[in-house]
Amino acid sequence: MNLALMTLYRLHVTFIDKDGDRHTFEVSKGDNLLDIAQANDLEMEGACGGSCACSTCHVIVEDEEIFDKIPEASDDENDMLDLAFGLTETSRLGCQVEMTPELDGLVVKLPQMTRNLQASDFENRS
Ligand code: FES
Repeated sequence: MNLALMTLYRLHVTFIDKDGDRHTFEVSKGDNLLDIAQANDLEMEGACGGSCACSTCHVIVEDEEIFDKIPEASDDENDMLDLAFGLTETSRLGCQVEMTPELDGLVVKLPQMTRNLQASDFENRS
């Protein structure tokens, strides 16, 4: 495989976990951030299984420039993001962000907390 092709399919993404530790992974085009985080045992709940129906895969993109390269959030994603704990200007749902060559080097932070309305609102914890 020539070098240009290899760089197309070997992309890098870094997650900063709740303790501030950085974890960098080599991933492929089309991988989404939820799948990458879960495959690497990072703390991302993904309560709805990636169907854009919760906000437990909330990530905060570190660099505004690269944030602007991510395709716009859908209305459904924006609705869910409104429920996310600690929403920022560069927040996205991890399950809705797929890696592309433009996003090579993406750095995302995992928020300190996530809000799981699906389970925690209806569960009787007493
Ligand atoms: S896993 Fe539920 S919205 Fe991403």
